[in-house]
Amino acid sequence: MMAVELAHHRPQWKTHVGFLLAAIGSAIGLGNIWRFPYLCYKNGGGAFLIPYFIALVVVGIPLMILEIGLGHKMRGSAPACYATVHRRWEWVGWWQLLFVMFGIMLYYSVIISWCLNFFFFSFNLSWGEDTDAFFFSEFLMKSASPFQIGDIRTPILFGLAVVWFLSWFIVFLGVQKGLERANKFFMPLLFILVGILVFWSVRLEGAREGLVVYLRPDFNRLKDVGVWIDAFSQIFFTLSLAFGIMIAYASYLPRKSEIVRDSVAISLINCIFSVFVGFGVFAVLGYMANKTSQPVDQVVTKGIGLAFVAFPKAISLLPSFARIFGMLFFASLVVAGLSSGISIIEAFTSGIADKFHYSRGTIVSMLCIMGFVGSIIFTSQGGLYWVDIVDHFVNHYGLVLAGLLECIIIGWVYKTKKLRDHIDHASTTKISARWDYAIKVFIPIVLVLLLVNSVIEEFSTPYEGYPVLSLVLLGRDWLLICLFVAVLISMRSWKITPEDPL
Ligand code: PHE
Repeated sequence: MMAVELAHHRPQWKTHVGFLLAAIGSAIGLGNIWRFPYLCYKNGGGAFLIPYFIALVVVGIPLMILEIGLGHKMRGSAPACYATVHRRWEWVGWWQLLFVMFGIMLYYSVIISWCLNFFFFSFNLSWGEDTDAFFFSEFLMKSASPFQIGDIRTPILFGLAVVWFLSWFIVFLGVQKGLERANKFFMPLLFILVGILVFWSVRLEGAREGLVVYLRPDFNRLKDVGVWIDAFSQIFFTLSLAFGIMIAYASYLPRKSEIVRDSVAISLINCIFSVFVGFGVFAVLGYMANKTSQPVDQVVTKGIGLAFVAFPKAISLLPSFARIFGMLFFASLVVAGLSSGISIIEAFTSGIADKFHYSRGTIVSMLCIMGFVGSIIFTSQGGLYWVDIVDHFVNHYGLVLAGLLECIIIGWVYKTKKLRDHIDHASTTKISARWDYAIKVFIPIVLVLLLVNSVIEEFSTPYEGYPVLSLVLLGRDWLLICLFVAVLISMRSWKITPEDPL
């Protein structure tokens, strides 16, 4: 018996390619361009590719099949799917949508705004010689602690308004006219931009040394548990798993769909893209090391610093067309970020539309206004700390816990066999019973290990040495408030009307 009744006429992708590009657009984001190359470098160069691809095969692809299969079978957003399994589980869907939309998306949109600003800075390389001072002191005007919020940085606020306006516009237009069309434009554009950048970079003087550092395998590092943890959590984030996004996107697929093949294609294209971008990033770092006569290790910086400190410095050193290189690089970040951002807004929109049947225009507009207002705090002088803390907690606890609950609900409550039968029925490529085992036993064990490790680390040293109170309020409590709201929403009854409001 269906526990919930969904709208009869769901929107549908116009073409199969449209769906694929949208899902790839969600997966490929800021995480692929600056996070992956750094993780790879930090965790033993080429040797990191081993745990990374193992994580892709044993966790990434099975979960992708689960999410796409689930959305396709139930034809609903994450909360609708779990509520269909049993009303008792509906909150899980709301919780993931809430902490992704009002956690990840709030700071993600601000990082896209930084990229947009840097795109314009590229016109005359306005970051100057000392890119570190430029980024932290002049641009962010970073305060001394998370509690010193200071002023709102107007350039970031302007960029943010543009980001939210564009996202609103695309999602407002709907699945076919908005998301599908935007991704059909964004994805080829991104591939062209990144293609030019990588081929340009690997031909620079000194690029070879950079690539050696990137890919030189240090197999000893594989003995370190931290390397494996990094690989597994990166797979989660990069494939947008446990975000509720793939479920919503798959719910717009036609009945006859290649669920298995598509899941494998989306996951592989995303990961190969990351490895490809890494070539460009490290070639540029090699060039910079060569120019400044430093070893490559000295010029590599962590996470955000890579895109906004090391890269601008390298761009300024380029022998020719430096400005164009800068524009291409930051434009690719903006495009990659936007196509991921809109997928979150869509996932939330479909959740509300399924349950309350409000019109799409109203939901998207309300959501984007709330999102814009909510992100303003991240544009303040203390914003960088907030980005860092919320990001850490949402990724290490929110996503992992949501993934674990997903496996339990589908594996043990609903039963994987039922979903597997559906997937096998819909697609020509079949999956074996090993998939059931992965969802029911193997992946939950991996996720529990990840969680236990994170908790132990959390208690041994406060994350990045931030004040404990800031971690409790911005990390733990942020997730708990989302949980509280999720439970409240799930207690409301489902509105059933014959008319499809979408
Ligand atoms: N997969 C995205 C990335 O790697 C993560 C993400 C998806 C972030 C959707 C925001 C929205 O950047």
